[in-house]
Amino acid sequence: MPELHANPDWRGPLPTATGSITFVDALQMMHDSPDLRPIGRIAEASNASFLCEITSGLQVIYKPTRGELPLWDFPEGSLAAREVAAYLVSDVLALGVVPPTILRDGPAGEGAVQLWIQHEGVQRAVDLVNTSNDVLRRLALFDAIINNGDRKGGHILPLADGRVLGVDHGVTFSTEPKLRTVLWAWRGEPFSDEERDALTRGLQMLSVGGTLRATLAPLLHATEIEALLQRLSTLRAADRFPEPTPDWPPLPWPLV
Ligand SMILES: Nc1ncnc2c1ncn2[C@@H]1O[C@H](COP(=O)(O)OP(=O)(O)O)[C@@H](O)[C@H]1O
Ligand SMILES: [Mg+2]
Repeated sequence: MPELHANPDWRGPLPTATGSITFVDALQMMHDSPDLRPIGRIAEASNASFLCEITSGLQVIYKPTRGELPLWDFPEGSLAAREVAAYLVSDVLALGVVPPTILRDGPAGEGAVQLWIQHEGVQRAVDLVNTSNDVLRRLALFDAIINNGDRKGGHILPLADGRVLGVDHGVTFSTEPKLRTVLWAWRGEPFSDEERDALTRGLQMLSVGGTLRATLAPLLHATEIEALLQRLSTLRAADRFPEPTPDWPPLPWPLV
């Protein structure tokens, strides 16, 4: 496997099929585009997900709320908002591990719209997981924070510059511990300074009057925001990656 870039710019421009674009520009274009034109259906998706083109020619994935399959453990029609909440947490904590994601109207009604990323493919992601590559620590921390119930190989997008992004964050932010992931290699390991900083930042931004609290309020239930604050605080106090809980399956199925 080729060596990864030692210190990639996590918030730098993202690769797309038509060139690279900054987070800010992508958000603006996705928001402003009058068009959201379906050009394909994502076959491997578990919910109705469409590859779409917006006016600028950028490609996005569109997951209409109406196409969400009901789940026993999440309120109906809440997955798209969770996708957006996950993006906001990644952004506010300066992690840069989620492609720009917004809620907006589309041909099948409101849904999550996320920038479609040009990545190195799932085999590369699986290789990184199998060799416990430290570049994945950032995503492992993010998953512990958002309580991700579905981090499988196919939800990890490796970029050519060494970054790894995560997608499919619909089953997140439950008030119950549901961390289910292929990224357990760092369980029990102490956090780095950078990881500590991300947690501290999250705690500040989620405090009463903090900006993250205000942006998450329309997307998550108040009890889920409190649970997020509690997870940040527990992780910061433990100062190490969490261990799996015995009463919840620790691995997603299938793994990829
Ligand atoms: N933003 C994205 N950029 C590139 N590929 C993506 C993106 N989002 C999803 N994918 C690809 O599409 C597949 C299906 O999307 P996913 O978000 O998992 O849908 P679902 O919620 O229906 O399972 C993913 O496994 C991944 O390979
Ligand atoms: Mg999926």
